[in-house]
Amino acid sequence: MQGRTVVLGVCGGIAAYKAVEVCRRLTDAGARVLPVLTRGATRFVTPLTFSALAAEPARTRLFDDPDDPIPHTRLGRRADLVLVVPATAGFCARYAAGFADDLLTATLLATRAPVVLAPAMHTEMWEHPAVRANLAVLAARGVTVVEPEVGRLAGGDEGAGRLADPARIVGVAGEILAARRDLEGVRVLVTAGGTREPIDAVRYLGNRSSGKMGHALARAAHDRGATVTLVTTRADAGPFPFPTVVVGTAEEMRAALRRRFADSDVVVMAAAVADFRPKAPAEGKWKKEDGVPEVVLEPTPDILAELGAAKEHQLLVGFAAETEDVVARAAAKLVRKRLDLVVANDVSTPDAGFEVDTNRAVLLDSGGPVSETPLVTKAELAGIILDQVAARLGRAGRDETPREQT
Ligand code: C5P
Repeated sequence: MQGRTVVLGVCGGIAAYKAVEVCRRLTDAGARVLPVLTRGATRFVTPLTFSALAAEPARTRLFDDPDDPIPHTRLGRRADLVLVVPATAGFCARYAAGFADDLLTATLLATRAPVVLAPAMHTEMWEHPAVRANLAVLAARGVTVVEPEVGRLAGGDEGAGRLADPARIVGVAGEILAARRDLEGVRVLVTAGGTREPIDAVRYLGNRSSGKMGHALARAAHDRGATVTLVTTRADAGPFPFPTVVVGTAEEMRAALRRRFADSDVVVMAAAVADFRPKAPAEGKWKKEDGVPEVVLEPTPDILAELGAAKEHQLLVGFAAETEDVVARAAAKLVRKRLDLVVANDVSTPDAGFEVDTNRAVLLDSGGPVSETPLVTKAELAGIILDQVAARLGRAGRDETPREQT
């Protein structure tokens, strides 16, 4: 945290006294803390406490500050992170709705920095659908929520809603500040999920892909600063803090990618695209009384091979799900589809590949294997793949040396 600037927002709740400790821990860790107190917060704690601890004036006003006529934009730009402790129900509602009627909410609208909220409130409020909905909106926009704990609340009550431990809040802030931003400004197009090829009006030919690997890649690229567009077949996933296009068939996925290909720097094709589709899907529903239908299949377009043939500056990453000769078959795919990187995984083991949360992979480029992972989570594998992408874009080592190849 050394030298990083944290705007510490404090709202009016009894847990405001714990924000004092958060402020102390942040300054101890070397951060420059700029405290912003709401009017409610000043009923519980004084600006002087924060000014003294942070060695920075605690700000409370949007207007009438003679030293700073536009404090919110200045604060928003200076922040490497905005941390709100405690985030009250009223504050979450105003932030989710885009209000800018006090210094804290105005600063939050004026910043591009990551935002962390540590809510604290009574259990009934924490569980209220309005609070849940507001936090879901904020999470979908990329705000990190440090969930409150179950424990003693004001007035001697017990339940969920007690502010998370200050050490944990500062830990989360530290992790976010340490996160790599080595894909800042890189336009990344990610596909996820299995395509569904209609047999008739209600049935389709599909596969077991859950979309988890592609979704993990899209999230990880977003966290590292990339401008992400996700093309997924899973309408039930998300919400995601980046544009998402939901498609059904290989043909729809192909169209979605073609539209965006020229404006992409990296395409990661994690989707399990069907290789075959019914040639003439019935318009209505096949009826049982009509007997067993004969479904004639035809090949689908190989989207990745088409992109490979059309590529100019784009870096192309493909996947190869194999059950035997994993490396050799993946290497052949790399050449045939003109890929820059291929992620090969053995889908014959139950703990890797489709549906599960873990994976084990070999990454190859035209020179052969560049990385072989043990069994890792899909989020971890996404990080390993993006390390290789960053290295190929000449961005490795921007903020941190890339992970050792395993
Ligand atoms: O040839 P195979 O299907 O194993 O290749 C896998 C890779 O090619 C994956 O990245 C997948 O998304 C992509 N693919 C495609 N279009 C297809 C089939 C696969 O883009 N019709």
